[in-house]
Amino acid sequence: MNSPTSLTKRASWVSLEDHFEKIQGLHLRDLFAQDPARGKTYSVESVGIYLDYSKNRITKETLDALFSLADESGLRASIEAMFRGDAINITENRSVLHTALRAPRDASIEVDGRNVVPDVHEVLDRMSDFCNRVRSGAWKGHTGKPILNIVNIGIGGSDLGPVMAYEALKSYSDRTRRFIFVSNVDGTDFAEAVQGLDPSETLFIVASKTFTTQETMTNAQTARDWLLKGLGAGHEAVAKHFVAVSTNGAKVSEFGIDTANMFGFWDWVGGRYSMDSAIGLSTMIAIGPANFLKMLSGFRDMDQHFRTAPWKENIPVIMALLGIWYNNFFGSSSIAVLPYDQYLKRFPAYLQQLTMESNGKRVTLAGNLVDYDTGAIYWGEPGTNGQHSFYQLIHQGTRLIPCDFIAFCNSLNPLGRHHDLLMANVFAQAEALAFGKTIQEVRAEGTADWLAPHREFDGNRPSNVLLLDSLTPEALGKMVALYEHIVFTQGVIWNLDSFDQWGVELGKVLAQRIVPELESKSSPDLKHDSSTNTLIERYRAAKAAR
Ligand code: F6P
Repeated sequence: MNSPTSLTKRASWVSLEDHFEKIQGLHLRDLFAQDPARGKTYSVESVGIYLDYSKNRITKETLDALFSLADESGLRASIEAMFRGDAINITENRSVLHTALRAPRDASIEVDGRNVVPDVHEVLDRMSDFCNRVRSGAWKGHTGKPILNIVNIGIGGSDLGPVMAYEALKSYSDRTRRFIFVSNVDGTDFAEAVQGLDPSETLFIVASKTFTTQETMTNAQTARDWLLKGLGAGHEAVAKHFVAVSTNGAKVSEFGIDTANMFGFWDWVGGRYSMDSAIGLSTMIAIGPANFLKMLSGFRDMDQHFRTAPWKENIPVIMALLGIWYNNFFGSSSIAVLPYDQYLKRFPAYLQQLTMESNGKRVTLAGNLVDYDTGAIYWGEPGTNGQHSFYQLIHQGTRLIPCDFIAFCNSLNPLGRHHDLLMANVFAQAEALAFGKTIQEVRAEGTADWLAPHREFDGNRPSNVLLLDSLTPEALGKMVALYEHIVFTQGVIWNLDSFDQWGVELGKVLAQRIVPELESKSSPDLKHDSSTNTLIERYRAAKAAR
């Protein structure tokens, strides 16, 4: 599947290194001057997304070499292996089939000889039926009242996708209900979430693939206590106020949730790739089954595009390769994702898990240490707020930070001049980053010589602009799938297992060991390092003094 040749020895990599030496000094001002139509030359449009990547420090030669790198890395075969259901998550011996979650009803995708598509649609049908009952008021709580508050309890992929999608599609949501997301093991998260909620009108969705995650199970237990105390009821009330989304039926029953009210998914869906599985139950209750299915069709359109489009028209592949160009040749260590839409305020946070839990790895599939940088740091805030915060560093700092601007031609809230102002800002930011303002231009404005360097913008700072029509459920599905496939493409080239997350294990295990040391009545025999021992002792002393 992957090229046997180590990445930095591949012919395309070596030619990219040579090419980089030649073009690293080229300025976007010159590139645009050489090709007055560059804005159109370096843009693609597909599945309703217009990608302008002209403001990148590339030439046709760069692109050709990057496409050769994709070929030499076996990208086409790897894409097919993923869609086919091969066990490409080798450290967990699992298929990686989030694409099956949005497959049409008549598709056939086999895992261990079983077509999983009917299973996916069976769960989607059950979810739809349940959502319709909650939304119509037919599903009643223990005291006979309809459900007005939906609280999703989950963390990581079981929280970030649901909360991001809820915020993104709020405009399509049922405004008569409240949707609340609890994730942190910090009791403050739960305490604030349930402020003012009437337990008799509250439904908890316990979303956890494993149903063993410390944070989620602690919050779920606290929620159950809160509910039963608030209702003054016994355990029989749980069935009407708790449903589960999980792959672990045994643990769900053990918690006291009827497995008839459990919505399953499968080990071939990674947590950070699960927002379109049953983990999206809260999204479906909020926006309704029809809109949820529209979102899935957006995912599917992008899947199809990724699978079939030639590299030069393939939006995820182009963006992934540009990411590699900056990460591995220019030495950039981060990418800013800057959505110019307030509804996408949680999109950067969502992408942080998707990208960094996937490609934050230091060994290859064969377990060898890499000799190149892997996953970039993703971060961002919605425009225009970021402009008045960290954009200073992107414009005039010493680091090269490629930016992805995301904008929509039509606002879902067309108020007065707001949208024109918002769009003027996104276009202006990309323009300013690319072309800057020379010291001569600054001086020509009458700026004193001593001040001019402070007011100069050197420009040549790359960005992509993703322009869509409007933020619909379909558009959100396309955007999420776009970044999923960027991550996949980069993981193939870097030769990583993008689908495991062993890096979160050690901290979890150590925390489990420390819990009894914090809770024991007698002084524990601490065997950590001197720093950890002292911190534990200080905490115990503070606790004793409470
Ligand atoms: O952070 C580690 C992780 O396993 C994520 O990959 C996952 O999304 C999250 O924990 C939550 O896991 P679960 O859904 O099993 O509670």
